[in-house]
Amino acid sequence: MTVDARKTAEQLTYLCGFGNEHSSEAVPGALPVGRNSPQRAPLGLYAEQLSGTAFTEPRAHNRRSWLYRIRPSAAHPAFTRTDNGALGTAPFTDTVPDPNRLRWNPLHEPPAGTDFLAGLWTLGGNGDVTQRTGMAVHLYHANSSMERVFSDADGELLIVPERGGLLLRTEFGLLAAEPGHVALIPRGVRFRVELLDDVARGYVCENYGAPFRLPDLGPIGANGLANARDFLAPVAAYEDVEGPVEVVNKFCGNLWRATYSHSPLDVVAWHGNHVPYIYDLRRFNVMGTISYDHPDPSVFTVLTSPSDTPGLAGVDFVVFAPRWLVGEDTFRPPYFHRNVMSEYMGLIEGAYDAKTAGEGGFVPGGGSLHNMMSAHGPDRETFDRASSAELRPQKIDDGLAFMFETRWPVTLTRQAAEAGHLQQRYDDVWSGLGRHFTPLH
Ligand SMILES: [Fe+2]
Repeated sequence: MTVDARKTAEQLTYLCGFGNEHSSEAVPGALPVGRNSPQRAPLGLYAEQLSGTAFTEPRAHNRRSWLYRIRPSAAHPAFTRTDNGALGTAPFTDTVPDPNRLRWNPLHEPPAGTDFLAGLWTLGGNGDVTQRTGMAVHLYHANSSMERVFSDADGELLIVPERGGLLLRTEFGLLAAEPGHVALIPRGVRFRVELLDDVARGYVCENYGAPFRLPDLGPIGANGLANARDFLAPVAAYEDVEGPVEVVNKFCGNLWRATYSHSPLDVVAWHGNHVPYIYDLRRFNVMGTISYDHPDPSVFTVLTSPSDTPGLAGVDFVVFAPRWLVGEDTFRPPYFHRNVMSEYMGLIEGAYDAKTAGEGGFVPGGGSLHNMMSAHGPDRETFDRASSAELRPQKIDDGLAFMFETRWPVTLTRQAAEAGHLQQRYDDVWSGLGRHFTPLH
């Protein structure tokens, strides 16, 4: 199975561009020309619109796609509740919001036969899924390909693989996401995850709010950060499968299942801009200082989910990609700070330049949470080293870290608050930051 998935992944082709009106047909002539919903769609297909934004949202932000499929999505039996497993949803009320700085080691190995959906484990989040505000932080650890199909009505899924590649079979076609890539599955899009390796591990930001978009660039100009053309959408590919298929739908926090008589991944052609993507984080065009100090980490924003307040994101996805540090007379690691925004950080590979010490450390597959106004920054070891380092141009190229930065505090699930892999002595990394103050007389 893994061998076949790997072979398939290596042969994929993609459509380039973020937010574009893409179109694709797996069978020539399947896509109607000149109208979205002709009296009879070509080749006996059904026409169906999938709306990711309200019909009337501004054109620049409107998301919708037209799907031409073997059966309409409406052809399904009733859904019934099924076990939510370790998947949690906002509002998170199991614990009280915790002002402490928190850090976790990676998840433990799951039981054999755990697929991506069963392997989702919720750390916490904020907002209210029924109000379409906020976000959730999940981790996943899987060792088996999905045979069922999943869709999330509650939000889009930003998947950040850390170990093992994923083959995502979506209604729109196939995507391959390796560690170092991210994959974006829009709200409501059905998909199945097959493993490209024996195990798969990583992070997921479930965004209940406005769809992620590229941030405005302001004085940076027309290019830079994540370039639109590096986002890759699938070409149409469909399953023409008759026979029982289990379909799971996440709706307002609960999982519901139904057994379809056919695969719902039966879209033969499509056009639109509410589409899944992959993006290689190593293509991020990093901006930074060429004089002194360093800019705020907002300059590392890959995608942003805006709110009604300009500049205030429901959640930003931020990457700390390889880059040069050249600032003169500058404390080069991230500075000490307290932030009104709340920061969940994860590590895809290597190390992060402000965190080297402590119990278990900050390791790939682990994560840290610095909630609203919690004081953090470099650990003592990093502070000592960076304060006395000789400042030559320095390449930071031994790690790939990321952040989900959100406007509301993150409240933990009980399983995250009581997890055996929650480090108990994280605060110690800042111990010994002694006084160096020497008043001049
Ligand atoms: Fe921070």
